[in-house]
Amino acid sequence: MLNPLDKTSAVILAAGQGTRMKSGLPKVLHALAGKPLIYYPVRAALEAGCAEVVVVVGHGREAVERYLAEAFGDVPSVPVAWRGRVKTAVQHEQLGTGDAARAGLVAVQPDAESVLIFYGDVPLLRSEDLAAVGAALHNKTPCMAIATCSTDNPFGYGRILRNAQGKIVEIREQKDLRSDEERAIREWNPGVYVVRKSFLISALESLKPTNAQCEYYLTDIVGFAGVRHQDIASVSLPAAVMDGINDRVQLARAERVMLDRLADMHRKNGVTIREGARIEEGVVLEQDVVVESFAVLRGSTRVGRHSVVDVGCVLTNVEVGEGVSLKPYSVLTNSVVHAQAQIGPFSHIRPDSEVGEYAHVGNFVELKKTKLERGAKANHLSYLGDGFVGENANIGAGTIFCNYDGVQKHTTRIGRDAFIGSDSQLVAPVTIGDGAYVGTGTTVTRDVPSGALAIGRAKQENKDGYASRLRARFKAQKESIASSKK
Ligand code: UD1
Ligand code: CA
Repeated sequence: MLNPLDKTSAVILAAGQGTRMKSGLPKVLHALAGKPLIYYPVRAALEAGCAEVVVVVGHGREAVERYLAEAFGDVPSVPVAWRGRVKTAVQHEQLGTGDAARAGLVAVQPDAESVLIFYGDVPLLRSEDLAAVGAALHNKTPCMAIATCSTDNPFGYGRILRNAQGKIVEIREQKDLRSDEERAIREWNPGVYVVRKSFLISALESLKPTNAQCEYYLTDIVGFAGVRHQDIASVSLPAAVMDGINDRVQLARAERVMLDRLADMHRKNGVTIREGARIEEGVVLEQDVVVESFAVLRGSTRVGRHSVVDVGCVLTNVEVGEGVSLKPYSVLTNSVVHAQAQIGPFSHIRPDSEVGEYAHVGNFVELKKTKLERGAKANHLSYLGDGFVGENANIGAGTIFCNYDGVQKHTTRIGRDAFIGSDSQLVAPVTIGDGAYVGTGTTVTRDVPSGALAIGRAKQENKDGYASRLRARFKAQKESIASSKK
């Protein structure tokens, strides 16, 4: 099928403050399933095949522009097909949606034949919904096509007014409705308009703020066509995808829908997702991955085939290979885990760490900027910061890499097949050679050559029969303290 929206520029209105969010953050930057609200309409317009996308910004404009540049700008992290297709236009004063559309139109490229206008606060809208409205414009030859929805209680939305022949003649806002008959109209305006550019220019010029809110209403372009007896095509869209976000209750409801949509998408790709897991937008899961309840997967996280993300794990921007087991309640951030590794329960893998194939990181082990080579193990209670641990090396329980001297961070290097006895402190910078052995309880302050044994603990003495003398002494001390208090 031909793309109904080529030669069409999208204009997304996002300059409003979103007063009802009660927030210092502009409404369109509130997160939904891990991405700011504005991400979704922009992506929908790009996926629908619009030639370009103009986002009208105003309130909190610097922050919105910064986000758009990062998510859709000419940078390597953005899909090639999207780069350079999103720009912004500024609406200096928020005088209404009609005024915002005017601000956007100025930025539209000259050869655009039509303009798709919609609102930045409708995240559930899909590209196919936009394409359906675009197709309605091209199948007939009206001046514009709009989407409509029908529900029993469309309170708050603009209502679609039709004449006796069923032709759309006007959209009337909730606050401007004149009678109970009008208030009873079930058909409402979700705010998607595909308009021929030449018509749009004159329609926007005609707007006047003569209404209950003293604003320039974009919806009045419908009335402008109506009085000229111009046909307006309409497409009925499911109300569930067209709910606008005005407050945090609506935000939470839409997020629920989005998360379910994402989970079902993964399930259809052969992934098991247990009830209550939260998988945000942008996460990639390969076939036969299992995600257990209350796991949270965010950002650019990717998980390879047959890996298990167990109950309560939190993964942020983590690359996980195949056959990995992430046991319950492990927290991993900006790190890489290679195939067949095992992590957790209760492991903390902090940024810039790398866990090699078949490596093990056990309970209460914290890694920061540390690389474990293939087969290395740190099974219990350790802090490994700024380190390299060679192949098959074994880190005993309670080992600490003392990486910080209060001013600078230093590196600890452990050779392949080395053995670090329990409760050892490695004071960085320090290097333990291949196959070396560090005795339990050693504080290592000097490099240990390959194959050497390092042992640095105080020598033990045993005093026969001394325990009962010690107890008698302690008892006497206790009694003298008690009698002095009387
Ligand atoms: C609007 C429609 C209404 C429709 C509803 C659907 C108008 C006049 N009314 O009402 O018919 O049923 O959406 O959700 O269009 N914006 C600007 N600049 C402004 C004002 C708004 O950019 O000066 C942006 C907002 O950031 C927002 C969008 O336009 O993303 C819609 O504005 P909002 O105030 O939410 O309009 P509604 O009252 O919901
Ligand atoms: Ca709205």
